[in-house]
Amino acid sequence: MPTFAVLHPIPEAALGLLEREGEVRVGSGTGPLPAAELEQLVTGADAILTLPTDPVDGALVEAAGPSLRVVANVAVGYDNIAVADLAARGVTVTNTPSVLTAATADLALALILMVTRRLGEGERLIRSGTDWAVSLDFMLGRSLQGRVLGVVGMGQIGRAMAARARGLGMRIVYFNRSRASAEVEAQLDATRLQLGELLATADVVTLHCPLTAETRHLIDAAALARMKPSAYLVNTSRGPVVDEAALAAALDAGTIAGAALDVYEHEPKVHPDLLGLDNVVLVPHLGSATVETREEMASLAARNAIEVAAGRPPLTPVGGPPARI
Ligand code: GLV
Repeated sequence: MPTFAVLHPIPEAALGLLEREGEVRVGSGTGPLPAAELEQLVTGADAILTLPTDPVDGALVEAAGPSLRVVANVAVGYDNIAVADLAARGVTVTNTPSVLTAATADLALALILMVTRRLGEGERLIRSGTDWAVSLDFMLGRSLQGRVLGVVGMGQIGRAMAARARGLGMRIVYFNRSRASAEVEAQLDATRLQLGELLATADVVTLHCPLTAETRHLIDAAALARMKPSAYLVNTSRGPVVDEAALAAALDAGTIAGAALDVYEHEPKVHPDLLGLDNVVLVPHLGSATVETREEMASLAARNAIEVAAGRPPLTPVGGPPARI
């Protein structure tokens, strides 16, 4: 019977899948686990279920011992895992693509609307008890109809975001290492641009790329300087894709109009300079945070763990070099 080490609590349905197949140990809480608890959980495990907040490297594999066959990340992103190192040790890595595409694109859409229509600011105004009255120039935001959405990373989530933006009457440009299929480009009426051109063209830039060595600080001070003063940046990918200090400076100086962030460079910390700015929306990594999506993610991770622990191929493996845009 395999042993499954689940580093953090997961939904009942997914837990049930594991319990039918083997022994299950579940970690006690959120955030990085104390070393002693981590070791106790993983020693002798055949499979480990992890979150993006769990660093997974050779040391964890050593701690688990020779029984370990698979690390199943309950996330689509797997920048927390030293994939090549694990592959060299014969440990399979899996993630949870597809099941969170709609939820994450929905969140990105919500952030675009929040920042362009100043919804966070409006909420803060009401809650502060400040007097207000409707007038023609009260709290004006920006319309999206006919504006250009720049999608950085045209994977499943980027495409789902673009489809939603088409519904708002936006035009789509995208930056991706490889060109999207002719069918996708036609469906979304999307034009591929180099990153610099996209930044200079888009009214809203939305990030959907994985975090890799190449995309770390992809949006730095120079990239921000290429954006239009009227443009907005939205990040639902990974925090370190954006140089947060440079972003805070650009927002403060008004060299871009606004930003909306779901992820942070030093998560869960947020750059202190962002906290006092009204032109940035800040939410706590909620991209896939719906009951339905989290159930599907955890169940997919559980099924990956079960398959590999039983000597069968994983459903959604990752491997080789991380996805590159
Ligand atoms: C969440 O951040 C994920 O990568 O699924």
